[in-house]
Amino acid sequence: MKLEFPEDFLWGSATASYQVEGATDEGGRKPSIWDVFCSEENRVANGDTGEIAADQYHRYAEDIVIMRELGLQAYRFSIAWPRIIPEGVGEVNEEGVTYYRNLMLALRKAGIKVVATLYHWDLPYSLELRGGWRSRDTVEAFRTYARVCVERFNDLVDQWITINEPWCISYLSHLIGEHAPGHQSLEETVKVIHHINLAHGMALAECRTQEIRKPVGISWNLFVPRNATRRSEDMEAARKSLIRESRVFTDPVLHGTYPSELGWQFPIEPGDMDIISQPMDFIGVNYYQETVLAADMQQESGYRVVPTWQPTTSQNWAINQYGLYRVLEWIAKEAPGIPLYITENGCASDDVIDPDGRVHDRDRIEYLIKHLEVAKKAIDDGIPLKGYYQWSFIDNFEWAWGYEKRFGIVYCDYKSLQRIIKDSGYFMRDIISGFCEY
Ligand code: FCB
Repeated sequence: MKLEFPEDFLWGSATASYQVEGATDEGGRKPSIWDVFCSEENRVANGDTGEIAADQYHRYAEDIVIMRELGLQAYRFSIAWPRIIPEGVGEVNEEGVTYYRNLMLALRKAGIKVVATLYHWDLPYSLELRGGWRSRDTVEAFRTYARVCVERFNDLVDQWITINEPWCISYLSHLIGEHAPGHQSLEETVKVIHHINLAHGMALAECRTQEIRKPVGISWNLFVPRNATRRSEDMEAARKSLIRESRVFTDPVLHGTYPSELGWQFPIEPGDMDIISQPMDFIGVNYYQETVLAADMQQESGYRVVPTWQPTTSQNWAINQYGLYRVLEWIAKEAPGIPLYITENGCASDDVIDPDGRVHDRDRIEYLIKHLEVAKKAIDDGIPLKGYYQWSFIDNFEWAWGYEKRFGIVYCDYKSLQRIIKDSGYFMRDIISGFCEY
């Protein structure tokens, strides 16, 4: 088999600031909600923190050499708000600005496109103390932060991504409570959903103020769930979940309305829906696993996730590449003509350094092959998929899982901070160069 993608298909890899940078108290950075969450008991596996992570703050030059070696064409990373405006509002930290400008300049010099996410979950802690994303003031603060980023970095950025995974910021962090700030309140979640949608729109508007406009999009982790059986309750469960967990983000952005069926009171103010629904240049899709749902009236949502027969990753996430196809097909219909990118896809596996000094992560390669085959099929079927970012460039702090789960195509030895390119890294190199036969 040979996987052939269009010549102009963009190949990249992705990370996020808190997951790879480390240096949490250097360069004028102040704590984010994740620093504090990590310091609380029983929040993160093994009490791990992002203090050192993969130390990319000090080692980005070394990482860019590896990116070049693998032929990566784009690097998607996130800008840490607490490095740019450490208190969330107020003074701009020039050291933080310089850090990201240097990173961007080094990437450009290496011929690697700069894809910057404005918000990948590290909210300045001082804003959390004032209500975090539950408060509309945070949206205003985000607008100012986005303006600063656009003013300082637009010349060096190739693509902007406003927000990473609104679902995680709302549901996972404010209802399920697994991510910072670890709350469990539906009332809060409803507010956060609207504020995050609005924050996206405001950031997009800031990007549009520049004379040279760089493409802007958002990264959604969309759920297009399967119903466990053909019983009408299960089919209804899948339909409801699509509304509650995907359309609650996509409808306002793409169509300017919230799905009425939810009956939720979003804190909408006049003009909000116009800000939220400004046209975007592309849509980012993050995909890892599929969900299969059955009706369950014991749950507030009315459904629950059920086990499947599919193989799972080392994190117990069900591997089904057709789930990716369903997501692409669904969003392409919802947003006709808007270019799509897979802005994250990858898997955790129990990687070890073999006696030969290498990491033979065959299971990750198999995961990638399956998903890339489906991505290729999507293109052949006319879905406007323009690029793929593998998650992640390097092993990193996997949020509540700490360092237990490795997602990188580059291995990070957390003691020595030495990098080792895994077999999956060489696999990506071959795919990108167009010579991947398997
Ligand atoms: C996504 C996150 C990313 C990473 C992967 C495994 O939900 O965006 O930061 O943790 O999951």
